[in-house]
Amino acid sequence: MTSLAPARSRKHGVRFLKEFISQPFVIGAIAPSSKRLAMKMVGSADLAHAKAVVEFGPGTGSFTDYILPRLNPGCRFFAIELNPTMADLWGSRHPGRTLHQASVKDVDVLCAQEGIEQVDVIFSGLPWASFDDDLQEATLKASLKVLKPGGKLVTFGYRVGTLLPKGRRFYKRLPRFFSTVERSEYILRNLPPAFVVTCTK
Ligand SMILES: C[S@@+](CC[C@H](N)C(=O)[O-])C[C@H]1O[C@@H](n2cnc3c(N)ncnc32)[C@H](O)[C@@H]1O
Repeated sequence: MTSLAPARSRKHGVRFLKEFISQPFVIGAIAPSSKRLAMKMVGSADLAHAKAVVEFGPGTGSFTDYILPRLNPGCRFFAIELNPTMADLWGSRHPGRTLHQASVKDVDVLCAQEGIEQVDVIFSGLPWASFDDDLQEATLKASLKVLKPGGKLVTFGYRVGTLLPKGRRFYKRLPRFFSTVERSEYILRNLPPAFVVTCTK
């Protein structure tokens, strides 16, 4: 059955929380991101001229809802989501759009399958602070492989993530992979407050 409820509706919020309780380190947040955070994410890259965009860990689609209307008609787009319940929910809210139920570390393989050689922007909703070193390295390497020169990885984080050992290692790792790494102020209208990190190849 098609569900057109907003990504942050009570219904999707409850499903999100249930998935968090069963897989806290994969989901990494207790609620879908806010509209303010989504707007900050999509405003951090030039989508009007993008030819290919990928979304990592879309969950119920709180960023997808702000990404898709900003893409030009010829722009290729797909999402990668590991959790099957989230993948189903996302699919029902975005009929006709492509989602691979897979791990983001295989983004290069998935781009090849889709016939996409270069990606302009990757938006990430991933809980990097719960990724171990191998998964962080593999995902960043694969992302760098597919991003065009000057392409961007736009991601977000919470303060707690900057204090956890895996989170600290993630933020230390970024400058090794990207030529610039810029961090925004905190977006307070999000649970919990979050910042956006824009990494340019
Ligand atoms: C914090 S939630 C973000 C959901 C949504 N983007 C938002 O901001 O509301 C993180 C999402 O990343 C997904 N995820 C975690 N590890 C992943 C992996 N290795 N590959 C793909 N998706 C992953 C989770 O299943 C979850 O849906």
